[in-house]
Amino acid sequence: MSPSGVRGKFITVEGQDGAGKTTNLGQIERVIRASGYEVLRTREPGGTPLGDTIRGLVLHGGNLDIDPMAELLLIFAARAQHLNAVIRPALTAGMWVVCDRFTDATYAYQGGGRGMDVGVIGEIEQSVQQDLRPNLTLLFDVDIATGAERAGERSGHDRFESEEAAFKGRVRDAYLARARAEPDRIRVIDAVGSLDRVQGAVESIMREYIDSLR
Ligand code: TMP
Repeated sequence: MSPSGVRGKFITVEGQDGAGKTTNLGQIERVIRASGYEVLRTREPGGTPLGDTIRGLVLHGGNLDIDPMAELLLIFAARAQHLNAVIRPALTAGMWVVCDRFTDATYAYQGGGRGMDVGVIGEIEQSVQQDLRPNLTLLFDVDIATGAERAGERSGHDRFESEEAAFKGRVRDAYLARARAEPDRIRVIDAVGSLDRVQGAVESIMREYIDSLR
């Protein structure tokens, strides 16, 4: 059942840094539009002026020595603003929302990567989101070496991209554990292959989901 007032669908896109999720967002958006729905594309942390300010701190505040709990709360502060100012109004208006990362990233990076208590993450999630959860999540998965290699091709590493391989391994493991726990919502895409093959997988998952609503 949808949370009260929500008419559109909430799609999230996840993966470790360098998994190629951002490259595939346009494809996801196109399939939804071609099926006759309006789409709003957004991202986390970010999506609002406050969220983008917090994104700057969390990604590039390397000189601030940010405490893990402070990081977690900053991310949820950005999320509260984003949900109330952007995501919920769009869903209520009947638009689909495609969000580049959401709370699965918090379980993966702050929970898996930083080792924050997942029970605490769950409590904050419940307070901030109430009954709102993504309807469908596409998880782009690559091995750590490929992810690091691809992320390394981009300039200017953020605080997470600069983490050691063990951190990245915990992030990936946490994502995959969530996918195993919620296989209907979280669809894993093997993102190591060619762009054509990955886009084919994206297209078939999106079409299958859209068809299941009819
Ligand atoms: P990206 O959206 O450009 O991939 O970068 C966002 C970074 O923020 C990425 O390294 C993961 C991190 N992040 C978290 O640590 N927790 C979160 O809840 C979210 C949404 C992102």
